[in-house]
Amino acid sequence: MSLIQKVTYNKKFNKKTCNFTTPSHSQGDFICPEAENLLGRKFFECDMSETEGFDNLRAPDGILKELQYNISKIYTSKCSFMLPNGATTGIIAAMLAVLNSFDEVLVARNCHVSVYNGLVLTGATPVWFMPERDEKWDIFKSVTAEEIERKLKSNPLIKAVIITSPTYEGVYSSIPQISEVTKKYGAVLIVDESHGALSNFARDYTGYAPAIVSGADISVHSLHKTAGAPAPCGLLHIAKSSKITPEAVQAALNLVTTTSPSYPMMIAIEAVVNFLFSDKGKNEVRKLYDLVEDFIAKTHYLDDVEVYSGFNDKAKLLLRMKSLPAQAVAKILNDDFKIEEEFSNDNALLFLTGIGTQKRKFEKLLSALKEISVMEVEADIVGDKYNIELPRMIYTPREAYFHPYEYIDTEKAEGRICAEVVLPYPPGIPMILPGEVITKDNIKFIMTDKVKVTGINRK
Ligand SMILES: Cc1ncc(COP(=O)(O)O)c(C=O)c1O
Repeated sequence: MSLIQKVTYNKKFNKKTCNFTTPSHSQGDFICPEAENLLGRKFFECDMSETEGFDNLRAPDGILKELQYNISKIYTSKCSFMLPNGATTGIIAAMLAVLNSFDEVLVARNCHVSVYNGLVLTGATPVWFMPERDEKWDIFKSVTAEEIERKLKSNPLIKAVIITSPTYEGVYSSIPQISEVTKKYGAVLIVDESHGALSNFARDYTGYAPAIVSGADISVHSLHKTAGAPAPCGLLHIAKSSKITPEAVQAALNLVTTTSPSYPMMIAIEAVVNFLFSDKGKNEVRKLYDLVEDFIAKTHYLDDVEVYSGFNDKAKLLLRMKSLPAQAVAKILNDDFKIEEEFSNDNALLFLTGIGTQKRKFEKLLSALKEISVMEVEADIVGDKYNIELPRMIYTPREAYFHPYEYIDTEKAEGRICAEVVLPYPPGIPMILPGEVITKDNIKFIMTDKVKVTGINRK
């Protein structure tokens, strides 16, 4: 019996036991009225703990074990783990399972901040590398197998490689080529596939097969970004071919996961994975990509609009208007059309779509872009573009975390060693990390002297 079936059965046949356990609301005996108004009674009815028959996520041997086994079958993994604390915990756990404090790990600098958390907790020394930039779109390009090989060749102590594919902006890297290199040098490949939760179900037409079937050892998915789950839900998968053991990952997850994992979140994970795997779910994913394709085709009639096209997840719509800075487009979309983008950088805007994104949303965005493209607009822009450079690391993240520090004025920080994470969010990619030397450019960015719209004049 699955988790969903068991909860449904218990409710239908009134199998509620007299629990003197946590949570003390006992599946809805008491609910704060405001919480009930917003979240509904059903949420509390599903909110339970490891009571009889409901297993224990720390050491599953019943209903949760079976659920994770079914998930692993769907993803063709050696073993899959639910992450009711989000992909963040999966990334940290993958690192804790693989790395020791004396290990070195090759990390692409466009990683999510959770990798930094993992570096502090493992104590491993990062060997950072900056993937090439696409200046036109102001994004990171794919990581190439050649650059990974160069690093691994010159640094035999590297035990693992961590990359993000697809990136926040949707750019894929070739996992088959990269994993060939990591295997050659005996390094473990961890892929943060948080933004690729649909990849398993869309591979026939996106041209990107999921990381663990392409040679990665471990991949991590975030299910709330594009796959329809509530936040925070994620999955960690170990590839069938990997030497990493489920026991090592379980032990690591137990270090960083709450001892009271949310049953509503685990129910949501089961529901989402089952749905994605069903014919209905597969059709829904296909529908999303068809809508995206249709949207992109229609933008071809708008001379001023260009949609990014490369080796990327098209459902992460990255576009720019040739005649207007991206920040100005974002402001007009927000102010005049009540359309909010996921993110805009100096050159482009990112519109995140996912399972269930409605046709009317694509139509609204298209019609807004059409209107903007014929508007006569003057945008007052101030500031400089931020120059992304790899900072100089003096202390490892762990050394810096435990190092004494002092507060100083930002203006006086040039040349000093940073003591906190400087993290523009979104996208959650660190600019400077503790232990790294602060530059003039960093200070400029922190003082918000970056590109900013101060006024839009519609003539
Ligand atoms: C690339 C990347 N990895 C990991 C995460 C963390 O995901 P979660 O919110 O599921 O913890 C994020 C979230 O923003 C992300 O963008």
